[in-house]
Amino acid sequence: MQYGYFDDNAREYVITRPDTPYPWINYLGSEDFFGIFSNTSGGYCFYRDARMLRLTRYRYNNVPTDAGGRYFYLRDSYTGDVWTPSWMPMKSQLDSYECRHGMGYSRISSSRNGLAFSQVSFVPLHDKCEIHKVTITNESNIDKYIDVFSFVEFCLWNANDDMTNFQRNFSIGEVEIECPPHGSSAIYHKTEYRERRNHYAVWGVNVPVNGFDTDRQSFLGLYNGFDSPAAVFNGQAGDSVASGWAPIGSHYIKAKLSAGESKTYVFVLGYCENPEDQKWEAQNKINKKPARDLLEKYNTPEAADKALADLNAYWTNLLGKFTVEADDKKMARMAGVWNQYQCMVTFNMSRSASYFESGIGRGMGFRDSNQDLLGFVHLVPERARARILDIAATQFPDGSAYHQYQPLTKRGNNEIGSGFNDDPLWLICGVAAYIKETGDYGILNENVPFDNNESLADTLFTHLKRSFYFPVTNTGPHGLPLIGRADWNDCLNLNCFSKTPGESFQTTANYESGVAESVLIAAIFLFVGPDFAEICRRTGRNDDAERAERAIAGMTESINKHGWDGSWFLRAFDAYSNKIGSNECEDGKIFIESNGFAVMAGIGIHDGRAVKALDSVKEHLDTKYGIVLLQPAYKNYHIELGEVSSYPPGYKENAGIFCHNNPWVTIAETRLGRGYRAFETYTKICPAYREDDSDLRRTEPYVYAQMVAGKDAIRHGEAKNSWLTGTAAWTFVSISQYILGVRPTFDGLLIDPCIPSDMKGFTVTRHFRGADYHITVDNSAGKEKGIKSITVDGNDYSGNIIPAFGDGKVHKIIVTMG
Ligand code: GLC
Ligand code: GLC
Repeated sequence: MQYGYFDDNAREYVITRPDTPYPWINYLGSEDFFGIFSNTSGGYCFYRDARMLRLTRYRYNNVPTDAGGRYFYLRDSYTGDVWTPSWMPMKSQLDSYECRHGMGYSRISSSRNGLAFSQVSFVPLHDKCEIHKVTITNESNIDKYIDVFSFVEFCLWNANDDMTNFQRNFSIGEVEIECPPHGSSAIYHKTEYRERRNHYAVWGVNVPVNGFDTDRQSFLGLYNGFDSPAAVFNGQAGDSVASGWAPIGSHYIKAKLSAGESKTYVFVLGYCENPEDQKWEAQNKINKKPARDLLEKYNTPEAADKALADLNAYWTNLLGKFTVEADDKKMARMAGVWNQYQCMVTFNMSRSASYFESGIGRGMGFRDSNQDLLGFVHLVPERARARILDIAATQFPDGSAYHQYQPLTKRGNNEIGSGFNDDPLWLICGVAAYIKETGDYGILNENVPFDNNESLADTLFTHLKRSFYFPVTNTGPHGLPLIGRADWNDCLNLNCFSKTPGESFQTTANYESGVAESVLIAAIFLFVGPDFAEICRRTGRNDDAERAERAIAGMTESINKHGWDGSWFLRAFDAYSNKIGSNECEDGKIFIESNGFAVMAGIGIHDGRAVKALDSVKEHLDTKYGIVLLQPAYKNYHIELGEVSSYPPGYKENAGIFCHNNPWVTIAETRLGRGYRAFETYTKICPAYREDDSDLRRTEPYVYAQMVAGKDAIRHGEAKNSWLTGTAAWTFVSISQYILGVRPTFDGLLIDPCIPSDMKGFTVTRHFRGADYHITVDNSAGKEKGIKSITVDGNDYSGNIIPAFGDGKVHKIIVTMG
């Protein structure tokens, strides 16, 4: 069943009933202030860091789900009818309901008993606040007297402490209130401002109010939930002033609406900072200047509308960098809009805050962030550049890396440390993608610290070189790279024999075998290594290039000699040098990762092993909803394999459809020219193709999920962990660069589509190094791969790499397959 539809012209997903199978969320914010916003107005917001600077409280895994947000309560003061137009938290019966999630904004519209409500919520560009513009309209033919109550619950900033340290927290809450008879009204949340904080939150509205509440208990009643706030049912705010306990912000506005009349209010929820010497305007009175400026800026509906229009223009420009037109609307809307949108969200959030990530685990992953970059480097190349330098600064001098770093300090995370031996290679992957996109070799000369230590700084090129040689110099008995704590698969822990509940499978490395090897790392090396050699050559480092090519040849030999199992590629060797991912194993005979990546890297293409490997993947791992990670699922815990065997069969890394690695198979299929199969693997995990199956899938039809339960699970087909996943970047790479086949290379834009024969053609526009490429592909010949002719601006063109024109013009490329 469907719970909504795509409105492609508006770039919106329209949710038509509030009781979606899981809260369907959107992200507000594009720079440093962010909000998570669900289709029933749930969620929270934060400035820069979802753990340390959280403005509003959110209770994960709550009952009922998704309770807590920025709520509006309406009460008809004549009939006493009370309702919440966002459906939650009261689950109000609505005469109409619609939620439109768009690019950085969401709109909720609903009505009940002749009163219409609409709300648009967004974070304006360049300001640290959420705007909620609310309009109520009397659609009946009698006058209405409506009580409007706003509601937010403040978080005491550090979200972890907020949920644990009650002996302190119940005494520290403080607010200030400014609700003058004229002008705007504001509630200030200033907990901890008296001592070490230089920031407070403001919750304002552009009109005078008739009352307010700032103490949760006064507003709700101690034993009431968000669904039955006492103040609202009484039709009277308590004018409560929080003192400790739980500070909230609620405005109370009495609105008289004659028949047909509308009233609009602009609510602003903002983060404000003051320099140390300007913190106070009087004893214990916070300096409200930044808040007043912010409220002043957005004190009319027109100002809010203008900010929303600017935000729309920002997205139109961004998404204009890569557009798709095709008969297959699902593919076109995903590749052209939603997939890129999700990539930007992963850029902003990394893996910190979603409805599955609590915002409290705070790391930016070395591996994750480098891969995410593949999905947004074409959209925000300057920001990708800065991200690369941040990431590289957490690398160790030997080429290994802190597995995660902290977004606020940008320093490596000591708790998790290092030892994920695939990490170094992802830096090469990210930098190569950046250079191919921009042609900016200058980045290689940037001086970047090692281990965040300026005195150890060296060029980014040196960082890449250390990355490249890390797996080469840390090899095991078969000449394959040592796996360390884990490789891409966090849960394949071959040096951590864990028996103690609660201990981390990855960081309790109590068995440093120096033996366990990863075939996947070898394959990743062979995929990114040639780019490193090419970078050496193109920057005049011929000796480095030759030495790198010898290392690549050596690794190719090792994988050829020891990495093949007969019908597919092996996955690894454990601490005893036993095979993993072999037909000889009882469970875990075949894994997806090494097969996808080895073929992506071109291994076995000329001797039939690549075809065999991908056919084996199809035979053993493919399902209706995508390709599972391994088969057969591990039935028992294997201490020598670690977390992978800790999950019940069919979930997560134990034979779940771990969507992140499905596009590796897609890309691998294009290397074999199998366009039909490439597209099939693409569509199976693509959410837009499962829109009408939402009861089973449950997560949003407009974004990828990290995992869909595999065939061994009872809930096969159910998705979890939507939004923050490397799936976003890799599926975008697979569809844009390998299926539609418009791929940045060092020399220019390569055109090499690999599509199903019944796809008759498509058009892609691509901004690339300062020019626009308007590419039309004609496949009336019904091919899967292969180009008969190309014209560029009307002239025949030989070869399929279109140069970087860099002239600010639009170039017309016509590609005929055949
Ligand atoms: C998670 C991690 C990612 C890892 C993957 C597989 O998505 O964020 O780093 O590669 O799981 O274990
Ligand atoms: C990855 C995996 C997850 C695991 C986590 C930490 O994110 O996807 O299954 O729990 O790493 O071990």
